[in-house]
Amino acid sequence: MGNSTAVSSSKSLDHFFSLLIVSLVLVYFLNNGVAAADRKLLASESHEFHTIKLSSILPDSVCDSASQGHKLPSPSSLKVVHKHGPCHKTEQSSLPSALELLAADESRVKSINSRINFNAARNTFASTKSVTFPAKSGLSLGTNNYLVTFGLGTPKNDLSLVFDTGSSLTWTQCEPCARSCYDQAQPIFDPSKSSTYSNISCHTPQCNQLKSATGSTPACTTEGTTCIYATSYGDNSSSVGFFAKDTLTLTPTNVIPNFFFGCGQNNQGLFGQTAGVLGLARDPLSIVQQTSKQYRQVFSYCLPSTSSKTGYLIFGKSYVSNSVQYTPFNSSPDKRFYSIDILAIPTVFSTPGSIIDSGTVITRLPLYPLAKPVSILDTCYDFSKYSTMKIPTISIVFGGNTKIDLDDSGIMYAFSSSQVMCLGFAPNSDVSDTLVYGNLQQRTMQVVYDVAGGKLGFALKGCA
Ligand SMILES: *[C@@H]1O[C@H](CO)[C@@H](O)[C@H](O)[C@H]1NC(C)=O
Ligand SMILES: *[C@@H]1O[C@H](CO)[C@@H](O)[C@H](O)[C@H]1NC(C)=O
Repeated sequence: MGNSTAVSSSKSLDHFFSLLIVSLVLVYFLNNGVAAADRKLLASESHEFHTIKLSSILPDSVCDSASQGHKLPSPSSLKVVHKHGPCHKTEQSSLPSALELLAADESRVKSINSRINFNAARNTFASTKSVTFPAKSGLSLGTNNYLVTFGLGTPKNDLSLVFDTGSSLTWTQCEPCARSCYDQAQPIFDPSKSSTYSNISCHTPQCNQLKSATGSTPACTTEGTTCIYATSYGDNSSSVGFFAKDTLTLTPTNVIPNFFFGCGQNNQGLFGQTAGVLGLARDPLSIVQQTSKQYRQVFSYCLPSTSSKTGYLIFGKSYVSNSVQYTPFNSSPDKRFYSIDILAIPTVFSTPGSIIDSGTVITRLPLYPLAKPVSILDTCYDFSKYSTMKIPTISIVFGGNTKIDLDDSGIMYAFSSSQVMCLGFAPNSDVSDTLVYGNLQQRTMQVVYDVAGGKLGFALKGCA
């Protein structure tokens, strides 16, 4: 600190500081009566800000597969890679632009809010905490950014699925792709080649559970035998196909027989050459509930600091960090979501419900928008003349008095192709909207979902 780069950098970040005051430390500064001119001094003297190398938060163009892969913490752990990063084999031409990604993120948040507000309204009228799903075709939540690879069928086929804590049904594209399959990197799963595959009949409890898992009433094939699922996501992506079961191989020593999943015959959307979706939400059909005997409804993941590094997804309790701090899940109006309370920054985080969602990139604060946004991000800077930046220490206080400092990689949103970075917090369109604690702010933490224990945990430095 204190060299010329840091000084000029902090001048150019005046705007950034003002925004932070609005968004994050309003009460602190007002209570202390600090004039605007003293902000920088105060900030550096009180260690509210620190300097980092820009390169430390920018992705490389090649996969750093050694970043985590060689020291995966557990035999039940799966490697996590970014859907659009160099660790996943994707055709360059099919990569969405940053603007497309942010727009998809925005529609995901809109769809989360439309569901929650809808259910909140129902609850008010019914003055009860019980929730039934809307009868109209329901939206699940999609557009996730991280994927894991595991085996399906006998012999097993390796498939990379995006994992999503906001949806329950797991599905993959299936031959013969009766209506439509999009391009995927691996061969499409062919049920006729798996000796352990079977269709699920319409008249089974599992077929009935699809209604709450997907929000859509299941159908039956015309001959009246096979159960048909339909699931659609906030960004217009969807999958429809046969409901089925087969053997799921997480790792060679973690094999789940008779795993229920969707065998997709009509698949549309922005799945980025992945084979489908792994549903980690709370519904009985989610993998968390289907494997509750083996893993006791506990899983954790670590999302890497950049899209060129790898993280992990682990099922079970044994590899949870000792330093994890927990916050209780609250009773969400929509039982499919994992809902927590965020207490910090009282004037900004004034909405009571917050949900944690691994599929939404940007944490949303009900801020007042500033000029010249890049898509949904309203506070962006050109760092082309700098190699370091001063960023604030941002901590979030959760229910249960759990205080977590965000990692440096969880504060600014970097566009891989340019030196423009934006503060990774986006305004909600309405102050009453739910705050979504997105996956940018979860980077490098081990995030532990102890569903049976009713709590969510965070441990710092879970991965690089
Ligand atoms: C599953 O059901 C579909 C539709 O009825 C049928 O075409 C397919 O052959 C069935 N697969 C198996 C393995 O029974
Ligand atoms: C979703 O699909 C509908 C109908 O195909 C279309 O009108 C709409 O523009 C699409 N929305 C997005 C966000 O792609």
